[in-house]
Amino acid sequence: MKENRFYNFNPGPAALPLSVLEEIKDSFLNYKGTGMSITEISHRSKSFDDVMNDAVSRTKRLLKLNDNFHVLFCQGGASLQFCMVPMNFLQGDRSADYVNTGTWSTKAIKEARIQGKQIKVVASSEDRNFSYIPQNIQFSSDAVYVHLTSNNTIKGTQWASFPDTGDVPLISDMSSDIMSRTFDVDKFGLIYAGAQKNIGPAGVCMVIIRNDLLEMVPDTLPSMLKYTTFASKNSMFNTPPCFAIYTVQLVLKWLEETIGGLEKMEEINRQKADCIYKTIDSSDFYKATADIDSRSKMNVTFRLPNEELEKTFIAKAAENGFAGLKGHRSVGGCRASIYNATTLEATEALSDFMKTFERENG
Ligand SMILES: Cc1ncc(COP(=O)(O)O)c(C=O)c1O
Repeated sequence: MKENRFYNFNPGPAALPLSVLEEIKDSFLNYKGTGMSITEISHRSKSFDDVMNDAVSRTKRLLKLNDNFHVLFCQGGASLQFCMVPMNFLQGDRSADYVNTGTWSTKAIKEARIQGKQIKVVASSEDRNFSYIPQNIQFSSDAVYVHLTSNNTIKGTQWASFPDTGDVPLISDMSSDIMSRTFDVDKFGLIYAGAQKNIGPAGVCMVIIRNDLLEMVPDTLPSMLKYTTFASKNSMFNTPPCFAIYTVQLVLKWLEETIGGLEKMEEINRQKADCIYKTIDSSDFYKATADIDSRSKMNVTFRLPNEELEKTFIAKAAENGFAGLKGHRSVGGCRASIYNATTLEATEALSDFMKTFERENG
């Protein structure tokens, strides 16, 4: 706890940079001299247009996107993308490959199947409770796309590098690791991410889509369910979630101007993850749940010797100013979510707390 604020390890919605929250607070009643709050002005105003365009340009710079890509802001969370992706790209008997690495991949697969779309699960780590990322996958050369979840928020695994799928574009759910590291965007046809972990509050989902995929979208889909609507109207076909997009813009500004870009962010995230994994690995009391080469740098999942101790650990942690350490209700255990805005100082404080707890209870 520092200045009445908990060390925040929530899985999402999650920590936001303090300077962003302060900027929002300071300009909340009078946004840039408009005499109104950003939540009170039209999405058709110049002020909001500037916010939208700045958010798009910063995303393009941070991810080094060329002009083939569009940056869109949609609603319906990442969950609506599970449905929109197959709806927009799988027509007739065309098929896509999916890799199943946990709860969110499973949901994406389910949403494609509900629509009767042809999909093939080409690899899965379900045999060992999703504790690893499958390797050496045989992809179908005629697939329209390959879908994978880059970071598995619940199971604590992450693709360290992305597979080679030849000419078949990757589509990735990056909800829990977007903007946390550099990667080669050229492999991707589409990336989507609910904002509420790494880039903003709940209520908006960032979608990055390549031109050739946009061209595949059939006209016959309902307007709000096709990517072409969002691309042709700069994400303002209808009223967008203005406040959420504004917050995303400020987080992106923080990433570029305060952190200094994704290379720097990646290095900080590496140090944060190392700090906690080292604490776990140097003890017989804590046990990480994911295979070493598949470990997530965003969600560190671990167990204590028994459930009773886990309950005590989470309660004691809360008393000491650490929030959000309970594992997802479907798996139990403990989880420290260390997204971009969680500081190295917070992970060091957690590591100290873990060592003390082990000494007192081990
Ligand atoms: C990787 C991943 N995908 C999808 C979701 C679901 O996102 P939403 O609640 O925005 O639909 C989550 C939420 O935790 C997630 O972690």
